[in-house]
Amino acid sequence: MPDQNPSTALRYPAHWLAAKASGRKLSVLTCYDAGMAGLLAQTDLDAILVGDSLAMVVQGHDSTLPVTLDEMTYHCRMVRRGAPDKFIIGDLPFGSFQVNADEAVRSGLALMKAAAVDAVKLEGASPHILEAVQRLKSAGVPVVGHIGLTPQSFREHAGFKLQGKTKTDQARILAEARALQTAGAFAIVLELMPSSLAAEITRALEIVTIGIGAGPDCDAQVLVLHDLLGLFEDFKPRHVKHYATLASVIRTAVNGYHNDVHQGRFPDDEHSFA
Ligand code: KIV
Repeated sequence: MPDQNPSTALRYPAHWLAAKASGRKLSVLTCYDAGMAGLLAQTDLDAILVGDSLAMVVQGHDSTLPVTLDEMTYHCRMVRRGAPDKFIIGDLPFGSFQVNADEAVRSGLALMKAAAVDAVKLEGASPHILEAVQRLKSAGVPVVGHIGLTPQSFREHAGFKLQGKTKTDQARILAEARALQTAGAFAIVLELMPSSLAAEITRALEIVTIGIGAGPDCDAQVLVLHDLLGLFEDFKPRHVKHYATLASVIRTAVNGYHNDVHQGRFPDDEHSFA
């Protein structure tokens, strides 16, 4: 049964901070449509991220860069319809906040207004991003930061690689985390970095760290739903765990249908009208 206890349900950023203060770990998954969101709404999952990973997972692109703010809004609205009571974070996509803080604030407000997300997430910690975080928060838009591997900057990172390998990089990432907290983020995604660095950041901050490929000591964990369900078989990064193998379940079901149709077994009397 879903966790109906209002004292543990996440409604507001303050609940995230309270969860951290009490040592309660949080589970987050990506989701991109109403059907799946409806299933997630029937689980104890703490929160949903409508990630710009949908560019790759749903739209079939080879990076997250092509997805637009309008498309993110469309998917966030579907997820909100499917999971009206879940805490939903909507990603600000590449090109919707990079020009300056004004643009970031406009995009964040637009996404929240059109799709009723509870918070927006944006990648990076450059001065204008920090200004954007501060201004979004004062405008009433809760913000989640995202540092370490930031997929929208994969060219700068020379691919999708582990970050924070040198002492200098570790110090920079820790400083970025502190700066995002000071700017007003209530949570930060820490992507693909050594567990020890994520643990140090988690200890240093009062806000919630959400790890992906960042070890067990983060306050929360996030995974791409399709990865967790085993819908992709070609490539399994080390930090992904398959909790199901749905790709083969789907192939078996479709072949079963195909064979039944070819051999005249479907539809049978049970699935036909007299
Ligand atoms: O877009 C996304 O799915 C993300 C997660 C991987 C954190 O940003």
